[in-house]
Amino acid sequence: MSEDGVINTTKLRILELLSDLDESELNSIEDWIVSYTFRKDLKLKRILQNDEQKLIKIGDSLKKYIPVGAELLTENIAPPIVGNQSDCNDINTCHVDGFLYDEDEVEDLVKCGKLNRHYCLDCNSRNVKDLIFISHSLSRQNLLYIFKLLLPKDLEGKQLLDVGSRTGAVLYGAYYLSNAPSITGVEINKEYCEIQEKIIGQFAMDTNRVKVIHSDIMDRPDVVGHSDIIVINNLDFFVNIEKHKEVWYFFKKHMKKGSYIVAARSVADTLNYLGIFEEFMDWVTACKPNQIENEIFFDVEDNSDIFLYTIK
Ligand SMILES: C[S@@+](CC[C@H](N)C(=O)[O-])C[C@H]1O[C@@H](n2cnc3c(N)ncnc32)[C@H](O)[C@@H]1O
Repeated sequence: MSEDGVINTTKLRILELLSDLDESELNSIEDWIVSYTFRKDLKLKRILQNDEQKLIKIGDSLKKYIPVGAELLTENIAPPIVGNQSDCNDINTCHVDGFLYDEDEVEDLVKCGKLNRHYCLDCNSRNVKDLIFISHSLSRQNLLYIFKLLLPKDLEGKQLLDVGSRTGAVLYGAYYLSNAPSITGVEINKEYCEIQEKIIGQFAMDTNRVKVIHSDIMDRPDVVGHSDIIVINNLDFFVNIEKHKEVWYFFKKHMKKGSYIVAARSVADTLNYLGIFEEFMDWVTACKPNQIENEIFFDVEDNSDIFLYTIK
């Protein structure tokens, strides 16, 4: 397309957006443009896009190790019997790794027949139902939200721990999107640890800064106790209720005061599902985003499952 064509198409797209606004909203956008604040925001937006590209490259490399169904033969994922994912079962649930495949890529997988969106309620009929899509990794959007909006911008001197680091998505996010000098993943599945090591080597990441420990998290109270930021994605598919409760009692015992928890569901909900909320009353305080200047870049709805707390 010619330069004029690009400009006209862009103007049309902008006008289409502006046509939805009332007079006062229009005035705010006009101020944003004439004050040149949009230039600063545009610069930041491009930095975020650039950061995301690094994670896309890692995701593409991981695809050769992880099946589309997001489950290795060496693991045994079982749908939970309590909580907001207890409606999942082997028939109605499709596991897709949200770090490897975003919405557009999932659509491509559906188009080429590698994934289905529906399951048949009684064979050969049109009586179909939507499959529940579950990701056991945080998505790139979640990671950008955590490191560019929720957590403080400066993580100098801080130690970050990902509990159950799986493909390493959180480790790579912390590595490329923050200045945290110490990033540790603890993962119980050996094959996932080996995959993370391969990616760390392939992308020549500094192994003094990022490391993976093959262990049950409950055998590493030292790592938990030294961490300033602890990321906990939902363990429901991986542990039974008794073990899940033990893990939270263990966190309460060993996490240090003032450290951050980033959770992929409200901690209150998780503890309520496990029936142990009352024993954790007043343990954590919910926090507001620390990098509020970046709020414009994030759709809070898309990240409504991600919560930040500090330990009291
Ligand atoms: C939901 S995935 C989280 C992946 C990653 N943290 C993320 O958010 O992208 C949970 C991971 O925890 C691991 N896991 C389960 N129980 C564990 C335990 N007791 N200690 C360490 N890892 C565990 C599982 O093998 C699984 O890979």
